[in-house]
Amino acid sequence: MTEIAALKAGLLADLDGADTPERVEELRVGALGKQGVITALLKTLGAMTPEERQVRGPAIHDLRQSLTDAIAAKKTAMEQAIMDARLATEKLDMTLPVDMAGQGSVHPVSQVMDELAEIFADMGFAVATGPEVEDDWRNFTALNIPETHPARAMHDTFYFPDQDAEGRAMLLRTHTSPVQVRTMTSQEPPIRIIAPGRVYRSDSDATHTPMFHQIEGLVIDKGIHLGHLKWTLETFLKAFFERDDIVLRLRPSYFPFTEPSVEVDVGYTLINGQRVIGGSGDDDNGGWLEVLGSGMVNRRVIEACGLDPDEWQGFAFGTGVDRLAMLKYGMNDLRAFFDGDLRWLRHYGFTALDIPTLSGGVGA
Ligand code: DAH
Repeated sequence: MTEIAALKAGLLADLDGADTPERVEELRVGALGKQGVITALLKTLGAMTPEERQVRGPAIHDLRQSLTDAIAAKKTAMEQAIMDARLATEKLDMTLPVDMAGQGSVHPVSQVMDELAEIFADMGFAVATGPEVEDDWRNFTALNIPETHPARAMHDTFYFPDQDAEGRAMLLRTHTSPVQVRTMTSQEPPIRIIAPGRVYRSDSDATHTPMFHQIEGLVIDKGIHLGHLKWTLETFLKAFFERDDIVLRLRPSYFPFTEPSVEVDVGYTLINGQRVIGGSGDDDNGGWLEVLGSGMVNRRVIEACGLDPDEWQGFAFGTGVDRLAMLKYGMNDLRAFFDGDLRWLRHYGFTALDIPTLSGGVGA
């Protein structure tokens, strides 16, 4: 037997006798580590004559390969043995009843926000966010609502006593529209985002709470027109209400940040005295519900955000998430959303395992 064959037999026998992963590692280092015997042999190759190398080279390489393979096989076998031992001792009784006590639920607003993010993700929209404490330039001025504009008064704004470092008045954002400004001033077009979040207005009754939720949408690209807006909203509302017979009515309206502006209604049908979304609102037993504000982004807004309005156009829309939740899931008092009444949450909440409506994707 050659010296190399003898070394190989010895190493393989040692490996065979190893009974712990530590011992295997020790053998590996001893043979293949920096100071290992095989590593040392490999180093001798350089000093050999070509003839000698032709004979001993393949034998040394074969030795290294054999030992590497044998170590890998040994490790796998050991891991398998450890796993088998664990499986033999650990048992899970799948027939035991589960203790459901104390299980929480997903608030309808969170559920609806997830649904919205999922629906718009299928149309290529990313989710953008902005702070709830905002400055009046982003909340108003950049959105073409100058200081003297009556829309400022209509927003019932909560102001902070102090201004920011740049001398701008600080406030709790009254809508999610400032995220439009934040996105346009920080991102290169094309832009396709939705921005869900909390907004604040000093207002409170059955349909108004001082804090509520909105979702904003913004698309900025080249050659965008009202047709794109209509298709997007129609696709979104069909997916959200899970009905194909959604009929939209676009009414001319006014928002400072869009031109032209449209208000969007969906048709409903009265069934047993209940408004069920779907069908034309002009039908005998139908009517219209306003669900969204939208329009083509005013070029003054695009300009204020540092973009060239002759190059970039787009549309925007905004609506109340709470209102969408009320319409979809048949809740009628907005205040109950934020009371934290456990009975209400148990009744209207969703289990964490509910999958957002559109996991299958927006149908083509
Ligand atoms: N920001 C508006 C509001 O709070 C909603 C809105 C209307 C947003 C039209 C838009 C839009 O982006 O285009 O009443």
